[in-house]
This record gives sequence, C-alpha cells and structure tokens, in this order.
Amino acid sequence: MVTDSPLLAVRNLQVRFETLRGELQAVNGVDLTIYPGQIVGLIGESGSGKSVTAKSILNVLSTPPGITAGEIWYRERNLLDLSPREMSKIRGQSIAMVSQDPMSSLNPVFTVGEQLRDALLWSEIVQDSTSEPSSWNLIDRFTRAGRRRFRRASAQAVEDLRQVELPAPHQQVKNYPHQLSGGMRQRVLTALAWAGQPDLIIADEPTTALDVTIQAQILMLLQDLVKTRGASILYISHDLGVVAQLCDRVAVMYAGEIVEEADVREIFENPRHPYTEALIRATTMASEDDLVEIPGEVPNMLALPSGCHFWPRCPMMIERCASDTPLLAVVGPNHKSKCAVIHGEWV
Ligand SMILES: Nc1ncnc2c1ncn2[C@@H]1O[C@H](COP(=O)(O)OP(=O)(O)O)[C@@H](O)[C@H]1O
Ligand SMILES: [Mg+2]
Repeated sequence: MVTDSPLLAVRNLQVRFETLRGELQAVNGVDLTIYPGQIVGLIGESGSGKSVTAKSILNVLSTPPGITAGEIWYRERNLLDLSPREMSKIRGQSIAMVSQDPMSSLNPVFTVGEQLRDALLWSEIVQDSTSEPSSWNLIDRFTRAGRRRFRRASAQAVEDLRQVELPAPHQQVKNYPHQLSGGMRQRVLTALAWAGQPDLIIADEPTTALDVTIQAQILMLLQDLVKTRGASILYISHDLGVVAQLCDRVAVMYAGEIVEEADVREIFENPRHPYTEALIRATTMASEDDLVEIPGEVPNMLALPSGCHFWPRCPMMIERCASDTPLLAVVGPNHKSKCAVIHGEWV
C-alpha cells in the first residue's frame, strides 16, 4: 500500500572518495524516494554507484571524505544529522541490510541461533530504551528474568528461521555459518535483517551468488515478508529480470547518477534513456548467449566524459550531448529521464 508521505527520501546525495589515483565522485546528485510498502529497484552496471548509495543511507562508508552533500530523510529525520549512537539505533532497527555476501555478514565464531538470538535481544533493548543509549544495559543472563529473556529469544530465533523456510530450524540454530549452504546462509541473513522489525530493507544484490532456483526462492521470501510484515525494500541488482518481477518502481544508475526513473511497467515498455534501452536489450539477448554486455567501455570514474556521461557509448548521440549537462526531466506520468534526444533532436 503506497501512501503519500515517503518513508525514505534521498536528496541530492554527493559522495566522493580519495583514491591513490585521485579523488572520484562515486555518487553525484542522487534523488531517491521510497514510500511505505514499496519495492524500489536500483539498477545499473557494476561500478555505477549502487552500493555506495546503499551504504550512504546506512552511513557505513569507510573511505573519506564520503558524503559531501545532500540529505537522507527517513520519516521526519535527516539521517545525516544524527549522532553515531542515534544512527546505530536506526541501523538494524528501522533500516536493515541484506548483502550480496552472507558469509562476510555473518560472524563465523557464533552459531546461527546465537546470532539471531542476540539480534532479537538487541532489538528488544533498543526498542525498550527511552533513555540515553549510554544506559542501554546488557541483559544479565544470571538472573531469573535474564534467563527467561534469553530462552524467549532463542525460541523466537527458531520460529524466525522457520519463517524464512530454513529446513529443520531447531537443528540449524546449533550450526555455524560455514556449516550451511549459500542459500541457507542467505535465508539466515534475511531472518537477521528482519529481527529488528525494520520498515526498510536494503537488499544489495542479495541473490547474485546463488543458483537460479535458490534465487527465486529468496525473492519469493522477500515478497512474502513484505506482504505479511509490511516493509519497504530498496532492491539493488544488475539483473533486470528479477527487478521486473519484484519491483514497483525502478531507478537506473549510470556513472553515479540516476539517469531514468519510472514505475516498473513503464520503464520496461517505454524506456526513454538510451542507457536503459541498452540494459534491457542486453538482458533480452542474454537469454540466448548468456552475456549481459552493453557495447563500449564502462566509464572511468576518475575521468568522466563531459556533458552526458553516456555519450561515448550512445547510439543516439548528437553533438550537444558531449557539452551540455542533461537534467532529470519529467517525460511522462511518474516518469523522469536525463535524455532529451528524440529522433536526433534535443527536445
Ligand atoms: N571505499 C571506496 N573507496 C574508493 N572508491 C570506491 C569505494 N567504494 C566504491 N568506490 C568506487 O565508487 C564507484 C561506485 O562503486 P559501487 O557503488 O560499489 O558500484 P556498484 O554500482 O557496482 O555497486 C566505483 O567506481 C568504485 O570503484
Ligand atoms: Mg555493488
């Protein structure tokens, strides 16, 4: 159900990184809006800035200078104004992330059950606390009440693993991450992400490492969880087939910018940016020879072409494209595109 006030509104996000070869602008002026209950897809080739956008929302970028401008509104709060403590309360509690690589997101030295139990307990503590985060006290498991809380969370962990359809959950809780298959680990990670009852899940290519059958199962699971628990999802992927199946709305990213955005049907039936068209064409052709590739080279983020960054690869390119900076303009109902060239004319 889509309501009028956004759950998340990213405004003019700018992210820069200092690298050995110079400073690069990984994200340049990104706007992204997600309404409650909506599944928004963020697509684009590798290196286009999808993960950096996701990490910016959670404020977990590691390389300076990082976010240099913009606003990230979550309900009525700009996340960029929050203290690290307030932000850690948001992370995992209100906004959770499911990443591409479940192994690196799980802790190898704790069992699956322990990790999920602790996430549930943590979320309880955070939810309970009306006071300063500094007074969040750890649960004393040597008191009777503490033991009861631990037992309750452990039982909940088994229940949550059953919900993500992990087989034999009461046995799996005793296993360590390395004892599980990739698909099972992704299920555990999904359960972990939901432990805090977040209302936004950021899924960054969560099925990329999995085989097709397991991918489909994880996607159905995400869809189910959205339906039953009513959260929103930012779904990052380079797989347009998945996006078409799962998402309500799609934003297309190229060289750190959103170049087109529309509802899912509109974007596939009536793409307006030549880059979106190329992505769709590449996906359609991939079913025949298994190669998703757009002609030309992915741009060097340290030396972006002037004007429209896509012009060196663009079949519709006209002279002005190399000099004029295109703006994201309304091109149809709920449809925006950065390309203004139609039939060889800049309109
Ligand atoms: N921590 C970092 N330090 C320097 N450059 C980075 C860092 N993270 C990402 N980048 C660069 O930012 C650009 C966008 O990366 P990313 O968001 O990971 O792309 P993708 O769309 O594949 O997720 C790339 O050019 C990448 O090399
Ligand atoms: Mg990425």
